[in-house]
Amino acid sequence: MDIQGTVEEIVALVSPLSGEGKVASYIPSLGKVSADNFGMCVAMADGAVYGAGDWQKPFSIQSISKVFSLALVMSYDYDSIWTRVSREPSGTPFNSMVQLEADKGIPRNPFINAGALVVTDRLLSLTGDAAAAVGGLLRKESGNPSVDIDAVVAASEAEHGHRNAAMAHFMASYGNLENPVELVLENYFNQCALEMSCEDLAKASRFLSRDGVSVDGAPFLSPNQSKRVNTVMLTCGTYDAAGEFAYRVGLPGKSGVGGGIMAIVPGRCAVTVWGPSLDTNGNSLAGTAALSEFTTRTGWSIF
Ligand code: DON
Repeated sequence: MDIQGTVEEIVALVSPLSGEGKVASYIPSLGKVSADNFGMCVAMADGAVYGAGDWQKPFSIQSISKVFSLALVMSYDYDSIWTRVSREPSGTPFNSMVQLEADKGIPRNPFINAGALVVTDRLLSLTGDAAAAVGGLLRKESGNPSVDIDAVVAASEAEHGHRNAAMAHFMASYGNLENPVELVLENYFNQCALEMSCEDLAKASRFLSRDGVSVDGAPFLSPNQSKRVNTVMLTCGTYDAAGEFAYRVGLPGKSGVGGGIMAIVPGRCAVTVWGPSLDTNGNSLAGTAALSEFTTRTGWSIF
């Protein structure tokens, strides 16, 4: 199969969609990114990498970081995080608070903001610096030592982070945070503000296509843990649109409001796309279309 040619064709096909949807602006510095960008990368489990468009341009990974913080916590703690966060699709937007009170401060899953705050809190307890731990994992797995936090984006989110702060305080009132709210928020904003390209991100997520095996050949996650991270991505990784995304793409995927989406073809490859214009659920519009086209053309889906 001509994977490079397929990626180039898909980028040309979906790039015109960048005019539809909206670039996220509730974090003001994200709103400054041009909607015209589009990139795509396929990193094969065995090492080959293909890319087209703006695939080497760094962007804010935002919620995609939540996959790596969860993987890190599971690597240290195995299953204990699941007493503090559930693993059910929420059926509500990623920043919704409505379920937290009924559920007594236990978030529905680790990929909505409330759940990710709990995971970051645990990673902070385990490592002393959750954002640095996520950054370290991403640098190692991507092989790019310059992957780093965009301090301007982190500050912009902190300045407008009232909703995340409200959820963190609410969970703290139920005893579901181990660290001071301000410290948890700082680590969470910093991990979301990590900047990476499609190429970096596809390389960094390859362990999820290799049963948890790290770039150095050592097991980072067990095959069972890797299966579970992928499963939670499939059911909860694109929020309210998880059903629609599964229907169109047929792969576990995780989106971020920076316009990136990371998808995993178990046993075969990681695929990343970046297009800053989002649909109403906060998922890249052109990116979802590209992934749908990719699995249709290649037949590489889990179904
Ligand atoms: O907490 C937030 O709102 C952002 N840092 C992350 C949200 C996000 O990426 C949701 N993804 N589609």
